[in-house]
Amino acid sequence: MPEKMNIAVLASGRGSNFEALAIAALKEDSPARIVLLITDSPGAGALRIAERMAIEARVVECGPKRGAMTSESSFTMREFCIRKGVNLVCLAGFMRIIKGPLLDEFAGRMMNIHPALLPSFKGLDAQRQALDFGVKYSGCTVHFVDGGIDTGPIIIQRIVPVKQDDTEENLATRILAEEHKAYPEAVRLFAEGRLYVDGRRVIIR
Ligand code: GRF
Repeated sequence: MPEKMNIAVLASGRGSNFEALAIAALKEDSPARIVLLITDSPGAGALRIAERMAIEARVVECGPKRGAMTSESSFTMREFCIRKGVNLVCLAGFMRIIKGPLLDEFAGRMMNIHPALLPSFKGLDAQRQALDFGVKYSGCTVHFVDGGIDTGPIIIQRIVPVKQDDTEENLATRILAEEHKAYPEAVRLFAEGRLYVDGRRVIIR
């Protein structure tokens, strides 16, 4: 059995995508394993999931500015990841823009999941944005992380029809179910060495 790829997950909140990744990684044939959870929030639900699943977790204070992170916190996260031999960093509801040493170290080895079909509806409240715009289909996107907000090359998308009477909550729930399939699939493809980035395009071999 080849050695498994080490994954760190960064999450600020509930942690359902973290849990989906952790459950997928428990499968015997998984090419990846989750070795670390990092959060910026001591109250994150993701911390309880990590405890239950016996995954090492760290809380890193990222500074008072909403959506931003200090360079010290970026450096600290980088150190934690390197010490655990992390090959891939997965953002799963991490509410700060990644910059600095962490991004430099993991360029091309960092993914994010977004609850809309990018490049539509970047940033916060993507499900609300989709409803307000009146699209008939939305969904989720797993993409590589670059310096921008939800701008990196797209790895996988899954489509969710928008119903006429949808509320933000209903739509978010159906999109979330697809997120839980898309993210483990993208991680598996990466861990199997099947993703090639050609400019903006991600080729799956
Ligand atoms: C998900 O909708 C994800 O797409 C977005 O933030 C939410 C995180 O949810 N980036 P959870 O913490 O994984 O449950």
